[in-house]
Amino acid sequence: MRDISLIIRRVWKSAFMFTALSVLIVSATQAQDVVEGRKIFKDKCASCHQLDRNSTGPALTPKLTELDEAFAIKWIRNWKSLVDAGDKTAIEASKFSPAEMTTFPTLTDEQIKSVIAYAKAGEPKKEAAAGAAVAAGSDEVSSFSIAGVALIIIISIVVLVVLGRAVKMLERLILKKQGVEVVEEEPVSFADGTRRMFKNKKFVFFFILCLIVTLGSFGWMGMWDTGVHTGYQPVQPIKFSHELHAGVNQIDCQYCHSGAFKSKNASIPSVNVCMNCHKSVQATEKYNGEISPEIQKIYTAIGYDPNTLTYDKSKEKPVEWVRVHNLPDFAYFNHSQHVVVGEEAIRKERGLKPNEPVCFACHGPVDTMEEIYQFSPLTMKWCINCHKDAEVSGKDNAFYTKVIEAHEKIKKGEKITPALLGGLECGKCHY
Ligand code: HEC
Ligand code: HEC
Ligand code: HEC
Ligand code: HEC
Ligand code: HEC
Ligand code: HEC
Repeated sequence: MRDISLIIRRVWKSAFMFTALSVLIVSATQAQDVVEGRKIFKDKCASCHQLDRNSTGPALTPKLTELDEAFAIKWIRNWKSLVDAGDKTAIEASKFSPAEMTTFPTLTDEQIKSVIAYAKAGEPKKEAAAGAAVAAGSDEVSSFSIAGVALIIIISIVVLVVLGRAVKMLERLILKKQGVEVVEEEPVSFADGTRRMFKNKKFVFFFILCLIVTLGSFGWMGMWDTGVHTGYQPVQPIKFSHELHAGVNQIDCQYCHSGAFKSKNASIPSVNVCMNCHKSVQATEKYNGEISPEIQKIYTAIGYDPNTLTYDKSKEKPVEWVRVHNLPDFAYFNHSQHVVVGEEAIRKERGLKPNEPVCFACHGPVDTMEEIYQFSPLTMKWCINCHKDAEVSGKDNAFYTKVIEAHEKIKKGEKITPALLGGLECGKCHY
C-alpha cells in the first residue's frame, strides 16, 4: 500500500513539475509576445489607433477582444482583399470612418498575433499624458512579467505543500484502517524543512531550471533593449513645452527647426528665435506681475536686461539643451531626405493626417508633449522596416527621372557619368 502511494506521489510530482515548468515557459514566451506586439503597435498602428478609445480607427482593446482572431488577422494584413471578396463583416467594418487603414502585407501571422495579444492585454499601466510613464515603458513590461513569474512560483510552492499534506493525511487514514500503528511525525521546523527540500534532487533540479529560465528570458529581453532609449526624457535647462508652443500656440515646427527641411540636421533654435516672442511675452500674469523665472533664463542666456531693454554680450550664457535623439556616429541620417523627398511616402506609410507634420511619423505626437521624449526606438530594425514598407513614387521626381535616363543610356551602351547619377549635388559630398 505504502509503495503504491509512493509511486503515485512520484508520478504526480514529476507531472506537477513538468506542468509548472511548461506554464513558466509559456508565460515567459507570452510576455515576450506582448513586448513584441507593443513594439509593432507603436510602430505601425499607434498613428491611427489607441487601445482604449476611438481615434482614426476604433479602440483596439475592445475591438480585438470581440473579433474572431482568424478574421482579425486577415483584416490587419489586408482588409481591402476582404472587402473586395465581398466579406459582409469587413464591408460593414470599413464604414467606420472615411479614412482608410493601411495594409500590412509583410506582417507574419506571428507578428499580428502578438499585436492582438498586446492589444487584448492592454497597457500594464496608464501612460501619463506628459509621457513620463513612457520613459518607464519597457520597465513596465518587464516588471509585469517578473510579477507573473514570481506569482507562478509562489502558487506552485503553495500547491505542492497543500497537496503533500493531503497525500500524507490520506495515507495515514488508509494505514489506520488497516490497523497499522501510526507514529505521529515530529513537526518539522521551517529551517529543517527548507534544508530537507534542498536535499531533494528533484526539487533542486526544478529550482535551478526555474532560475535559468527566468534569468535567461530577462537576459534575452534585456539584451534586445540594450542601447535602445525609447522614452528617454532628460531634464532640460529651461522648461520649454512643445505642447504649449507647437500645440496650443500652433507654432510651425519649421519656425524653430528649419534645418530639417534643408539639411541633415533639424537643429535646435538659438535663443534669438525665442526672443522674437519672449521680448514681450513674459507670462507675468502667472507670477504676480514678475517675469516668469523660466523666461528669465532666456534673458540670462542672451545677456538681456528686461529693465533697461539692453543686451550685454559679455554676459551671454548659452543654454545647454540636453540632446534627446542621438544615433551613433557611424549611422548617417538626413532629415531633408525624409522630411522633403520622402514626405509623401512616409505620410502614406504611417497614415498621418494632412494637418499633422511629417515629423510625427518618427517623433510621435510632439504637439502633446509637455517635455520632449524619444518616441521611436531608433534601432537599425526601425529604419529598415520603414524602408521595406514605404512606397516611393518616382513620378515628377527629378532624381528618379535622372536614374531612368541613366538606365536608358546603360541599356544603349552610352557613356554615363557620376554627374548623371547625382554626383554634382552638394548634399552627396557635404553634410
Ligand atoms: C492609416 C491609419 C491606420 C493604421 C496605420 C492602422 N489602422 Fe486599423 N483601422 C483604421 C481605420 C480607419 C479603421 C476603421 C475601418 C475603416 O473605416 O476603414 C481601422 C480598423 C481596424 C480594425 C477593426 C476591424 C473591424 O472588423 O472592425 C482593427 C482590428 C484594426 N484596424 C487593427 C489595426 C492594427 C493591428 C494596425 C497596426 C498593425 C492598424 N489597424 C493600423 C486605420 C488604421
Ligand atoms: C518655439 C520653438 C519650437 C517649435 C515651434 C518646435 N520646437 Fe522642437 N525644440 C525646440 C527646442 C528649444 C528644443 C530643445 C529643448 C527640448 O528638447 O525640449 C526642441 C527639441 C525638439 C526635439 C528633440 C531634439 C533632441 O534633442 O533630440 C524634437 C524631436 C523636436 N523638437 C521636434 C519638434 C516638432 C516635430 C515640432 C513641430 C510639431 C517642433 N519641434 C516645434 C523648439 C521648438
Ligand atoms: C512665436 C512665439 C514664441 C516663440 C518663438 C517662443 N515662444 Fe515661448 N511662449 C510663447 C507663448 C505665447 C507662451 C505662453 C505665455 C503665457 O502663458 O502667458 C510661451 C511660454 C513659454 C514658457 C512658459 C513660461 C511660463 O513660465 O509659463 C517658456 C519657458 C517658453 N515659452 C520658452 C521658450 C523658449 C525657450 C523659446 C525658444 C526656443 C520660445 N519659448 C519661443 C510664444 C513663443
Ligand atoms: C524618418 C524619421 C524622422 C522624421 C520624419 C523626422 N525626424 Fe527628426 N530625427 C530623426 C532621427 C533618426 C534623429 C536622430 C539623428 C541623429 O542622431 O543623427 C532625429 C533628430 C531630430 C532632432 C535633434 C537634433 C538633430 O537635428 O539631430 C530634432 C530637433 C528633430 N529630429 C526634429 C524633427 C522635425 C522638426 C521633423 C519634421 C520637420 C523631424 N525631426 C522629422 C528621425 C526623424
Ligand atoms: C517612416 C519611414 C522611414 C524611417 C523610419 C526611416 N526612413 Fe530612411 N527613407 C524613407 C523613405 C521614404 C526614403 C526615400 C526617399 C526618396 O528618395 O524618395 C528614405 C531614404 C533614406 C536614405 C537614402 C537612400 C538612398 O538610396 O538615397 C537613407 C540613407 C536613409 N533613408 C536612412 C535612414 C536611417 C539611417 C533611418 C533610421 C535612423 C531611416 N532612414 C529611417 C523612410 C524612412
Ligand atoms: C563630388 C563631391 C562634391 C560635391 C558634389 C560638392 N562638393 Fe563642395 N567640396 C568638396 C570637397 C572634397 C571639398 C573640400 C576641398 C578642400 O578642402 O580643398 C569641398 C569644399 C567646398 C567648400 C569650401 C569649404 C571650406 O571650408 O573651404 C564649399 C563652400 C563647397 N564645397 C560648397 C559646395 C556646394 C554649394 C556644392 C553644390 C553646388 C558642392 N560644394 C558640391 C566636394 C564636393
